Amino acid sequence: MTSLSHGLGSSVGRKLVVAVTGLALLGFVLGHMVGNLQLFLGQDALNGYAALIKSKPALLWGARLGLLAFVGAHVVLALELAAENKAARPHGYAAPGRIQSTPNARSMTLTGLMILAFVIYHLAHLTWGVTHPADHALVQTLADGTTRPDVFSAVVLGFQDPLVAGAYLVAMLLLGLHIGHGIQSVFQSLGLTTSSSRGTFAKLGAGLTWLIVIGNCAMPVAVLAGVITLPEGVA
Ligand code: HEM
Repeated sequence: MTSLSHGLGSSVGRKLVVAVTGLALLGFVLGHMVGNLQLFLGQDALNGYAALIKSKPALLWGARLGLLAFVGAHVVLALELAAENKAARPHGYAAPGRIQSTPNARSMTLTGLMILAFVIYHLAHLTWGVTHPADHALVQTLADGTTRPDVFSAVVLGFQDPLVAGAYLVAMLLLGLHIGHGIQSVFQSLGLTTSSSRGTFAKLGAGLTWLIVIGNCAMPVAVLAGVITLPEGVA
């Protein structure tokens, strides 16, 4: 415990925690996207997947608490590091170029906070049913007469509204900017970047970023374009 608080007291320790929690959150974003892409397979596939996740409450709540802890640590420590960097930035006569910072690095705080705002909106939309309560309350009746939440129709109805779809698209682009720069920083914080590996990591990071942006944007775009439509019987 003492060594943990000692580690978090140093900026190197905090950078390390931001990097590791960032990697874990990237893993969640990738896994979540792969699951959501079942939207393209239809109502049964996506609703079956959502029901499967909810059928294991202990696992679900364990994962949710872990995710919450990672998001909390990532946001708080990243904000602390940004404040320290700002305070350490030389004023007036200081040597120019001592602290390297690209426009993208400086925008990490802004894109990070906007993604946090998106996640809260996204939870209010599809998990808590606050913004679209009627869509969230929809159920699918199965052949044996049982029902399960109709997550497929809730997502499609949401994305049929250009404002909602537009908000998701903008959020995905911000996510791409954040992840794109974040991946480069992770390798640096973990001490894995050498002059020979830099190019490989840059390509890997860019590929992963584009995969996430294209995969996530494909869903609202497909609904807006009429490629994915509501099942029969859902107004
Ligand atoms: C087009 C893109 C996305 C779609 C279609 C989508 C869809 C969904 C759906 C349907 C749920 C609710 C699942 C349920 O309650 O059955 C959900 C939950 C969630 N989504 Fe997304 N999502 C998208 C992008 C994202 C992104 C980019 C993030 C993070 C940056 C994210 C984070 C979450 C979180 C944290 C939850 C709550 C999980 C839980 O604890 O139940 N989603 N998403």
